[in-house]
Amino acid sequence: MLSIEHLSVKYGDTEALNDFSLSIRTGEIYSLIGPSGCGKSTLLKVLCGIIKEYGGQITLNNKTFSPKETSIGYVPQHYGLLDWKTVKENIYLPFKLSPGKTFKETEVNEIIHSLEIEDLVDRYPSQLSGGQKQRAALARAFVSQPDILLMDEPFSSLDTFTSEVSQRLFLRLWQKQKVTTLFITHNIHEAVSIGKHIVIMSKTPGKIIHEIENPMFSVSGYQEEKLRFVASIVQKTGY
Ligand SMILES: Nc1ncnc2c1ncn2[C@@H]1O[C@H](COP(=O)(O)OP(=O)(O)O)[C@@H](O)[C@H]1O
Ligand SMILES: [Mg+2]
Repeated sequence: MLSIEHLSVKYGDTEALNDFSLSIRTGEIYSLIGPSGCGKSTLLKVLCGIIKEYGGQITLNNKTFSPKETSIGYVPQHYGLLDWKTVKENIYLPFKLSPGKTFKETEVNEIIHSLEIEDLVDRYPSQLSGGQKQRAALARAFVSQPDILLMDEPFSSLDTFTSEVSQRLFLRLWQKQKVTTLFITHNIHEAVSIGKHIVIMSKTPGKIIHEIENPMFSVSGYQEEKLRFVASIVQKTGY
């Protein structure tokens, strides 16, 4: 269990998060949805260690959480690929940065294969479409077999069709590793497609106003029921 308690983060005088608490169960996906500026990216930056100054307490399995000592896959809001490195070099980056990390090439190749990017590994990010960049960034997040996967609006800049393909590939890959995932989105349909738990935040500084367990999680098809569930969330929360 990753437990975030009374988290507060300030940028100068701006309060990005104030008294934010959320418990994340191991091996489950949480979709976090909230208006722009409510502190979603800030939360992920705290969890991946970019932001080190905050109030409150974070524990992982009852021990103080340390991003450095935890294997974390982070997909930042704009992919975070290094433009001067090929797709393959980008994907292998986690191993370069942490030389202690080991990998099996067959496993990395399997991830590349399941995201359908094997023909792109020698290209540079500037030679990829948005959806392809997205999948390269996902591959990089998955190869180190992280304990925690943090994804910041990974599908939001994709068109609907590309986004749905990427979501399907993501879920297929996720099924194999069942990594604890915090998935950020501002799209309620995406939140329902991906998350076992739907967490809805208020405006700045964001707090949780609803947490809903998703009965449609990992149910494929049943589009109508999914739409009905989305409608029920919208009705209940006014989102
Ligand atoms: N580097 C920064 N300096 C100052 N204020 C920031 C910075 N980053 C974010 N903020 C502010 O903190 C709040 C939360 O931002 P952010 O976490 O990016 O929200 P979200 O991802 O939900 O859109 C916003 O009011 C934003 O303007
Ligand atoms: Mg953001």
